[in-house]
Amino acid sequence: MPLEYEKYLQEVLIDEASLQSRIAQLGAQINLDYAGCKNLLLLCVLKGGVMFLSDLSRHLNVPHMIDFMAASSYGIGGRQSAGSVRIDMDMRLDVKDKHVLVVEDIIDSGHTLAFVLKTLRNREPASLKLCALLNKQSRREVDIKVDYIGFDIENKFVFGYGLDLDERFRNLRFVGVARADAATDE
Ligand code: IMP
Ligand code: MG
Repeated sequence: MPLEYEKYLQEVLIDEASLQSRIAQLGAQINLDYAGCKNLLLLCVLKGGVMFLSDLSRHLNVPHMIDFMAASSYGIGGRQSAGSVRIDMDMRLDVKDKHVLVVEDIIDSGHTLAFVLKTLRNREPASLKLCALLNKQSRREVDIKVDYIGFDIENKFVFGYGLDLDERFRNLRFVGVARADAATDE
C-alpha cells in the first residue's frame, strides 16, 4: 500500500538528515549571536513554524521563552497569497524589552511577516530578528530582512515538516514538492 501522501508528492526536496543538520547549524549560530542574552523570546508563527520551533529550540543553550502567534494570509486551501493578513491568535507574553526572534516556516510573498513584524515593532521589543526555515526569494512582494535562513528554495509549492497541503501532512519529517495537480479531497 503506498502511503497516503505519496500521491501528492512530486519529489522530496529536503530530506530529514539535511533539515536536521541545517537546523543544528542555525542553532549554533543563534547561540553565538545571543550568548549572554537574558530575555530571548522565540516567537513561533503558527501553524507552519511549529516543527521548526521545537527542533530549533532544542539546539539552543541560551535560556529562552517560547510563545505563539497565528497569522494567515492565504484563502482557505488556497496556494496563492491573498495579500491581506490577519492575526488569528495573539501571543500571551509581553514583548516589551525582550529580544524577540520570530520563527517562521517559510517566507513567500512576505506579506504575513511584514504584518507580524510591524505589529511586534509597535510593542517595543529590545530587538527583533527573523529566522525562517525556507525562503522563496523569487516570490517576494515586500522587502523583508531575514536574519537566519535555513534553505533558499525555488518557487514550488512545498509541504511537510510543518507545512501543509490543505491542512494535511504537517507531520512529515521531510519537505516535499507537491505535484502541480495535487489537491486533497477536502
Ligand atoms: P506570505 O505572506 O506570502 O509570505 O506567506 C507565508 C505563509 O504562506 C507561510 O507562513 C505559509 O503558511 C504559507 N505558504 C507559503 N508558501 C507555502 C508552501 O509552499 N507550502 C505551504 N505553505 C506555504
Ligand atoms: Mg507560516
